[in-house]
Amino acid sequence: MSNTNNTITFPELIRLKRDGGQLTEEEIHAFVQGVKSRAIKDSQIGAMLMAIWLKGMSEKETLQLTKEMMKSGEVFDWSDEWVVVDKHSTGGVGDKVSLPLAPALAACGCKVPMISGRGLAHTGGTLDKLESIPGFKVNQSVQQVKQILLDIGCCIVGQTETLVPADRVLYALRDATSTVDSLPLITGSIISKKGAEGLNALVLDVKFGRAALYKDLDSARHLAQSLVTAGNNLGITTGAILSRMNAPIGRCVGNAVEVCEALECLKGRGPDDLNELVLTLGGYLLWISGHSPTLENGKNMILQKLMNREALKKFQAMLVAQGVTEDAAHSLCADDTDYFKHMKRAAHQTELKAQHDGTVLEIDGMAVAKVLHKLGAGRNEPGEKIDHSVGAEILVDMGQQVTKGQSWIRIHHNSPELYIHQHFDLQKALVFGSSDEFKTESRVAEFIHPR
Ligand code: URA
Repeated sequence: MSNTNNTITFPELIRLKRDGGQLTEEEIHAFVQGVKSRAIKDSQIGAMLMAIWLKGMSEKETLQLTKEMMKSGEVFDWSDEWVVVDKHSTGGVGDKVSLPLAPALAACGCKVPMISGRGLAHTGGTLDKLESIPGFKVNQSVQQVKQILLDIGCCIVGQTETLVPADRVLYALRDATSTVDSLPLITGSIISKKGAEGLNALVLDVKFGRAALYKDLDSARHLAQSLVTAGNNLGITTGAILSRMNAPIGRCVGNAVEVCEALECLKGRGPDDLNELVLTLGGYLLWISGHSPTLENGKNMILQKLMNREALKKFQAMLVAQGVTEDAAHSLCADDTDYFKHMKRAAHQTELKAQHDGTVLEIDGMAVAKVLHKLGAGRNEPGEKIDHSVGAEILVDMGQQVTKGQSWIRIHHNSPELYIHQHFDLQKALVFGSSDEFKTESRVAEFIHPR
């Protein structure tokens, strides 16, 4: 196929964008349809992606791209009485927020059809974390998702084949043509999938810092504004928080160990920074979706659902609905439990000792994640198997006074021992200083409200 709609050919369309022109609604429609049907050659799609990367897209073009991508597949249609909400995070080391957040929102009366992803490279995927629990099934049909939402209120599932098929083609070609980091292409990819989920409200957690894709606040703000604009233009009440991602979130990094920490959060015993993110993202969604008159009130509602264990009960029910046995779900959610009775524990636990006295100023999350990745916690190629039992528990707090010889991290691994360079990389991740150099910072730096 060489024509869009018998008026302009694809080479002409590529030239138009390459030369900085604006694409019309019909032209974007023809492009996305051609991508979906594979009528446009990969070389032409790649050239168009590069033209978009170089010249950008206006707000109007970005919205049209997002809408066309969304309409390239199935769009969920829920009961008018439901308030359907979700969150999207740009990903960070130790980010297990979705696990307590989805059931806490369901306990507040929202419907949460959370469609999550798998990890690649150093990033951990929510689906991988949940698959540490034997029996948990991330693949659920639309009918099953509907039933789980009706019965429980939340589910965490993988993307179905029918949801935004154009994104699968575009994403693979973006990867192959070094055009992943384009604002309109990222926006179209993320927001089209959220639009297809049939949401009323969406909160985005856009991370910045050493262990995030965006290293500084300005570039994270730029992305957040583009996502918030497209979400609202699509009719989803959308807001964002910009959150700091220097140290890992909480104390656990890996798959099974992060499930343990998420369960602790659901039992009201989570680490402060994880609690802060769950309360803020949840409270914000309750506020913008009209469930709560203020953000503060929304945060209190989430806190209450964690403290009174209603969120935990929702999580337990979700586990059973998604394939975990009643016995295992009950036991994981019990007060005093051995989590590793039901999840695989790594064969070895190695503790590393602090090499100096001092105050903990920083723990380089990316360095820890890279070591874990090599130990089997992450994958290099989509579809690769991972070892859910590999992980790390950080045994010290930021700002804590530590003495030489004190254990500061416990690595769970199945390789017989850690290599010398892994010891070295981990020790380098722990940054010491004096107590007056340490300043406590909230994870949440800024909000971008719906327009
Ligand atoms: N996540 C997505 O789904 N798409 C992107 O382009 C980036 C992150």
